[in-house]
Amino acid sequence: MGVSYIPVCRLGEIAAGELKPIEIGDRQLLLVQVDGGYAAFARECPHEAADLATGVVEGSRVRCANHGYCFDLTTGECQLPKGGPPLTTLPVEVRGEEICIKLEW
Ligand code: FES
Repeated sequence: MGVSYIPVCRLGEIAAGELKPIEIGDRQLLLVQVDGGYAAFARECPHEAADLATGVVEGSRVRCANHGYCFDLTTGECQLPKGGPPLTTLPVEVRGEEICIKLEW
């Protein structure tokens, strides 16, 4: 099993509450500060594919602006409505001055 860390942003380049667009390959993601750390997740809402960059971060979850579905930013669980489609999330780790996506295979 291998681990890769992909730097996507430097510390200080993302403001509190900002949904920062990032890309890994052809995947469109968003990066956000949450609970003193960072979370990364798919930019496309798993409900009907709205752009979550227009969503609202509320504590440790994001609410889609389209139909109001809410997703936990660390687990991806759909909290509202319960049992809704999960959001794809990726592990984030700070290494030195860089915020990295951690990929394991
Ligand atoms: S498209 Fe996001 S809640 Fe419907």
